[in-house]
Amino acid sequence: MPEILVLNGPNLNLLGHREPEIYGHTTLDDLANDLTNKAPSDTTLTFFQSNHEGEMIERIQALLHQPVTGIIFNPGAWTHTSVAIRDAVSSVKPVLVEVHISNVHQREPFRQTSYFSDLAIAVIAGCGLNGYHFALQTILNHSKDH
Ligand code: DQA
Repeated sequence: MPEILVLNGPNLNLLGHREPEIYGHTTLDDLANDLTNKAPSDTTLTFFQSNHEGEMIERIQALLHQPVTGIIFNPGAWTHTSVAIRDAVSSVKPVLVEVHISNVHQREPFRQTSYFSDLAIAVIAGCGLNGYHFALQTILNHSKDH
């Protein structure tokens, strides 16, 4: 039975309200409901969002004792800054798909480096919230092949 953890970093709790021209009008709760409704019935999805780096590190470290099939991670601004969260991910070595709602490569230069992409089986950027659905499919396909 696949178990997927969906992690969202800082400011993604403001989804639907924050810069809607970039991130759209859908809230994080709506995204969670939509992903859950469309996931295969045997798949369990768990959601966690934090604005606190230490809290996110502890959530990722918890995977050492409670492993999951894969994680969908939008690290938000931590993508470009957080060696500490990267180290947590490399310690746990989950099946990781990195998601960005916007096309970070089309934006400011500081958004074009990621501390996570080389740890991920796939990186999805610029597909809006569909990126989370694609990420789920990618992890499920990967788990069938491995
Ligand atoms: C983001 C892109 C990041 O650069 C930004 O800091 C975010 C959201 C995205 O989903 O497009 O918070 O990860």
